[in-house]
Amino acid sequence: MSISIGGVRLPRGIMLAPMAGVADTTFRKICRTLGAEYTVTEMISARALCYEQIGRRHRGGYKTAQLAQITPEETPCAAQIFGSEPEIMAEAAAMLSTGEYRGYGGWELPCAIDINMGCPVRKVVSNNEGCALMRYPELAGRIIEAVCRATRLPVTVKMRAGWSPDEINAPELAKIAEASGAAALCIHARTRTQMYAPGANWGIIKKVKEAVSIPVFGNGDIYSAADVLRMFRETGCDGVAVARGALGNPWIFSEIAAALEGREYRPPDITDRLNLALRHAEEIVDRLGGSTGLAAARSHLAWYVKGEPGAAAARAAIMRAKSLDEVREILKGLL
Ligand SMILES: Cc1cc2nc3c(=O)[nH]c(=O)nc-3n(C[C@H](O)[C@H](O)[C@H](O)COP(=O)(O)O)c2cc1C
Repeated sequence: MSISIGGVRLPRGIMLAPMAGVADTTFRKICRTLGAEYTVTEMISARALCYEQIGRRHRGGYKTAQLAQITPEETPCAAQIFGSEPEIMAEAAAMLSTGEYRGYGGWELPCAIDINMGCPVRKVVSNNEGCALMRYPELAGRIIEAVCRATRLPVTVKMRAGWSPDEINAPELAKIAEASGAAALCIHARTRTQMYAPGANWGIIKKVKEAVSIPVFGNGDIYSAADVLRMFRETGCDGVAVARGALGNPWIFSEIAAALEGREYRPPDITDRLNLALRHAEEIVDRLGGSTGLAAARSHLAWYVKGEPGAAAARAAIMRAKSLDEVREILKGLL
């Protein structure tokens, strides 16, 4: 099992899938350290990035540009963009490929540009962005071509099975993506109408794999190494992308690596979990500052303690905590 995206080779083909509001630079770094071979930024609005650069939307700081900030520890990391206008998508891709834009200085460059054709959120699809592009394959193709022309980085596409059970077209769109210059695909095996409901249909990943010759990552409902082995076996995909299965359990990447390499895996004990939970929260607070950082860290903390005895009370206390010191005491109480 090995996969190449441009010049980047992933021996096991295992990536952390993009997650807006969750898979930020801190989480990506943690997952890389624990065995994820490839990461992707949170989705970045191409339009917002372009507007911010021409000064129309930067009063709150360069918030959009900050989403593209990548540290050396989390590379190789692709930058994911979303939008519906080929020229604007191309301009955003060009900026991200050179790092020559305001609010970015001094960070690593992405290893690829990933185009989002899977986001199901109403605010996004109502602008014909994200998964809505699956309903307009011709426009989707033009966007991929424009982005490929604008960057020397490999361009990848993340899509769903289709818009609805009656509009499953991932294999057709995958062919268009390949013909338009995409270097790899990631298929989230659900429709837009399914949102995130349980029951990803991996059969569609197999169909996409059979339709194209570029590498295909399968995605949807991976919660263990056994799921990864089953996805490889059932779909023939080249790589696997893990999203929610890594929340509170970034060790899933160590478990997967061990299984693929035939090594034994020792799961983290409660002390490992709580130590990482605290370090994770500290890093977020360090980066974003007191209350904003704590707000961003809360959901991660809650995921880390899930399943431990006393977790419900600890989670409620974490949600009320006003400082990292309080969080430390709550976590200590679980030991
Ligand atoms: C909180 C959250 C945020 C997400 N944000 C993005 C995103 O920014 N870009 C994207 O392509 N997919 C995004 N996704 C979708 C995931 O990458 C993935 O396709 C989906 O969760 C299915 O994988 P899973 O079953 O392993 O969770 C997001 C998912 C979640 C749960």
